[in-house]
Amino acid sequence: MIISAIAAVAENGVIGKEGGLPWNLPDDMKFFQRTTLNHPVISGRKSYESIPPQFRPLRDRINIVVTSHKHYDAPGATVVHSLEEALEAARATGANEVFLIGGGQLYAEAFAAGLVDRVYLTTVHAKPAGDVFFPDIGKAWKEVWSEKHKADERHPFAFTTVVLQK
Ligand SMILES: NC(=O)c1ccc[n+]([C@@H]2O[C@H](COP(=O)([O-])OP(=O)(O)OC[C@H]3O[C@@H](n4cnc5c(N)ncnc54)[C@H](OP(=O)(O)O)[C@@H]3O)[C@@H](O)[C@H]2O)c1
Repeated sequence: MIISAIAAVAENGVIGKEGGLPWNLPDDMKFFQRTTLNHPVISGRKSYESIPPQFRPLRDRINIVVTSHKHYDAPGATVVHSLEEALEAARATGANEVFLIGGGQLYAEAFAAGLVDRVYLTTVHAKPAGDVFFPDIGKAWKEVWSEKHKADERHPFAFTTVVLQK
């Protein structure tokens, strides 16, 4: 099973602000949707709760939520208590690829442990204020795909999406 991370990261490393995203970029959200669709997705408890209630669990994906709370209830999602347990739950579905969808704590843990094989990384060309950051992922990555998106009336910032392979 390929272990992938998917993230949108500003040029200053910011990925989150006050429990949410610091931007609204609908076409990047669409990229997230179509890339992760029909695959298990793993999120930290805080990121899971940042998804508006009417959109969670994310449809047509097995949603796996990591928390230390033993009795955490997330209707329609699979609740686990470690990243290892999350990956086991994803493997048990028979999936060929699983997506780590954030947030900062979950990404940091996965990259530090060398678990990530592939990164779907959107660089948002802005330097917004924020309180959650993407970890340093090092340089041992090969870019295998990229696409640029200009700023327009629906997108306040330009962004560039790349796929990085270990
Ligand atoms: N730009 C992007 O691509 C992107 C993507 C996702 C999220 N975000 C943003 O990132 C922010 C949230 O990130 P965050 O770093 O604050 O939180 P997070 O990583 O989403 O969640 C952290 C929580 O996950 C649980 N957790 C993580 N690792 C665990 C482990 N090994 N064992 C048990 N529990 C574990 C803990 O939950 P308990 O406290 O319940 O124990 C921890 O408090 C939000 O602002 C969100 O909008 C941005």
